[in-house]
Amino acid sequence: MSKVRGGRVKFDPKRILMSGGATGANELIMFCLADPGDAFLVPTPYYAAYPRDLCWRTGLQLIPVHCDSSNNFKITREALESSYKKAKDDNINVKGLIITNPSNPLGTSLDHDTLKSLVSFTNDKNIHLVCDEIYAATVFDSPRFVSVAEIVQEMDDSSLKKELIHIVYSLSKDMGFPGFRVGIVYSYNDTVVNCGRKMSSFGLISSQTQHMLAAMLSDDEFVDNFLKKNSLRLAKRHEHFAKGLEEINIKRFPSNAGLFYWMNLSTLLKEQTFDAEMALWRVIINEVKLNVSPGSSFNCLEPGWFRVCFANMDDETVEVALNRIRAFVIGNKKETTTNNSSRGKKSVVEVKKRWQQNLRLSFSSSRILDHHENVMSPHILSPHSPIPASSSPLVQAT
Ligand SMILES: Cc1ncc(COP(=O)(O)O)c(C=O)c1O
Repeated sequence: MSKVRGGRVKFDPKRILMSGGATGANELIMFCLADPGDAFLVPTPYYAAYPRDLCWRTGLQLIPVHCDSSNNFKITREALESSYKKAKDDNINVKGLIITNPSNPLGTSLDHDTLKSLVSFTNDKNIHLVCDEIYAATVFDSPRFVSVAEIVQEMDDSSLKKELIHIVYSLSKDMGFPGFRVGIVYSYNDTVVNCGRKMSSFGLISSQTQHMLAAMLSDDEFVDNFLKKNSLRLAKRHEHFAKGLEEINIKRFPSNAGLFYWMNLSTLLKEQTFDAEMALWRVIINEVKLNVSPGSSFNCLEPGWFRVCFANMDDETVEVALNRIRAFVIGNKKETTTNNSSRGKKSVVEVKKRWQQNLRLSFSSSRILDHHENVMSPHILSPHSPIPASSSPLVQAT
């Protein structure tokens, strides 16, 4: 934990609770902090599985803090105050704020001052701050990653209520170990540590896994090299993918972390609505055959944003993906340009019209869609859907 935070902070092993991935860690901390009906504030856009992980079994609710592209999705004090007040007016007991730093889906890390302002906000309101830092080591460009642990260290005087601060971490992203299910809650709160330790019995990491990982992670040279190389590779892939998108004029949110891009495809929407976003999503999934996630599944307020993962594939697959996007976008444009060549410059309206035709076509024609939507609709889509029983090695063994 200390290494991926640049060695700038020290962690007390007695405050670490183990859980089944960050999924288990997020649920564990919610069980410790909130009662059914209580609420957590969460800035948008946020990780699509938070409703499942934070609410399904705990019975708590999420209150969105709406952030938008006009100020780069910054989490402002005004937005926090407004959501907090609305919840209070509705007689909802707000227990805390949960943030993802670096953000999924934005791929950006929070700067020092914003993080400090979130600590101040939660301390002022006397509510908890949970920082999901699962992407800590994916920062490949400036600004560098700042952990809330650094802010705690910096502000650690009698006025800071550090018992209100908790960190969620996992090896799923930073070490590429999602299948090992290694998650952590690090809490500055003694009661949470005691309670969480008992609760963690429901999601323990096997001792064999712990031994194996302890042996691997205690090899300092290996870990240092791994983290360095990982960050260089992410930077390289990020740049390559960015160039590919720029070539075809796809706008993306500037990012410095994460394993994905937040792309703005709003110019391709038939109209600026979430229905149109879903229609475009269906075309991309079924015709372009790329697995992207629509902004609505991250509770983004503006239609037209999509998250595309760029890190979970080999170089060859990246080219296939980029070629498919190019073929789809340029193919549409070319056709229109050719049609319009006698009239000179291509008409943007006609390019758009062609898209709209495409959208309508695929929306109504494909029977496969019905099946696909049941399985993949972002409203029920789980990024961690269990493997189908037939392909589970254990089920096969029975
Ligand atoms: C922000 C965030 N939190 C938690 C998780 C869950 O991670 P894990 O695989 O460790 O359960 C993810 C996975 O995508 C995530 O993006």
